[in-house]
Amino acid sequence: MSDPRAMIVDSETTAQRLPLMELIEVLREAFAKGCRTPLRHHHTITQPGQAPSTLLLMPAWQEGVEGNGYLGIKIVTVVPGNVARKLPGLTSTYMLYDAMSGVQLALLDGNVITARRTVAASALAATYLAREDSSRLLVIGAGRVASLIPDAYRAVRNIQRVNVWDVDRGNAERLVTNLRDRGLDAEIVDNLEEAAAAADIISAATLATAPLIKGRWLKPGTHVDLIGGFTPNMREADDDAIRVSSIYVDTKDALHEAGDLIQPIESGVLRPERILGALDELCRGKIRGRASKEEITLYKAVGTGLADLAAAKMVFEGFPGS
Ligand SMILES: NC(=O)c1ccc[n+]([C@@H]2O[C@H](COP(=O)([O-])OP(=O)(O)OC[C@H]3O[C@@H](n4cnc5c(N)ncnc54)[C@H](O)[C@@H]3O)[C@@H](O)[C@H]2O)c1
Repeated sequence: MSDPRAMIVDSETTAQRLPLMELIEVLREAFAKGCRTPLRHHHTITQPGQAPSTLLLMPAWQEGVEGNGYLGIKIVTVVPGNVARKLPGLTSTYMLYDAMSGVQLALLDGNVITARRTVAASALAATYLAREDSSRLLVIGAGRVASLIPDAYRAVRNIQRVNVWDVDRGNAERLVTNLRDRGLDAEIVDNLEEAAAAADIISAATLATAPLIKGRWLKPGTHVDLIGGFTPNMREADDDAIRVSSIYVDTKDALHEAGDLIQPIESGVLRPERILGALDELCRGKIRGRASKEEITLYKAVGTGLADLAAAKMVFEGFPGS
């Protein structure tokens, strides 16, 4: 980096400085205040002999903030061919700047920022959308993001039991072992229908392209949180789930990026006016959250640079003298 004062923060330190309970409240304030988040860029990278990769650029900045105003950009590479190389499919870096001077402040672990801000944003949404007495959580997926879902929900609801389902049973076993080692009542489930019908909150963070959650399984009062899909051909819940739910999004970008909304809109199952609003509107009190104990709520997230910037700022400001 050109500025010798800029710090490089490793993944462990980045995680330590983002405790989920505090991060949820930092995000509540950040969504309420807002910041500039221009359209993120998806670039397709083609290399001979491998599936196309994606370079994703996610900038965000604060304007009109006296002192301590920040600008940041997350740079993400998504390389499906890395499975064969036994390398992670996704690599992410976060660069934080002073928004006034443009001076570099810190280079942070983008993977940690992404995973933690994502589950924290879902838990934040659940403070408005999930029943207060929700105690049974079903986690669908057991990867980098999904494995943090139980901790995030435990920060906002009295979760007594966690069920885990993953297409790869070994992944689910690892997550359940980890949760049990930490004293949680956790169990693998093989029958997704039964587990979904018993859950108060269902949270999915997978790469699924065909629906995993069926609307006919959902009992009244369930909250469904869809984190995984970020392209028009990805899908975690079926049309019936869309039909029976009161629907919210993290940002309106979800309407252009998420197959869980795009496909039912195109087929006429979902009228866009049925989408009740976004997380910033919930945080500002502009729209209502859950209206009754019986309502089924569904939150679809695609992620936002606003949450990345808020998390990066929190990490940076955690250093004395920053
Ligand atoms: N909404 C957001 O803000 C946000 C943020 C980060 C990641 N994501 C998305 O969440 C998803 C998971 O990310 P991650 O970093 O945890 O990935 P990961 O690779 O660590 O985990 C993916 C999980 O999905 C499972 N899976 C893979 N293919 C599947 C399929 N076809 N059906 C069902 N399950 C399948 C895998 O077994 C694994 O447990 C990705 O699609 C990612 O883009 C969304």
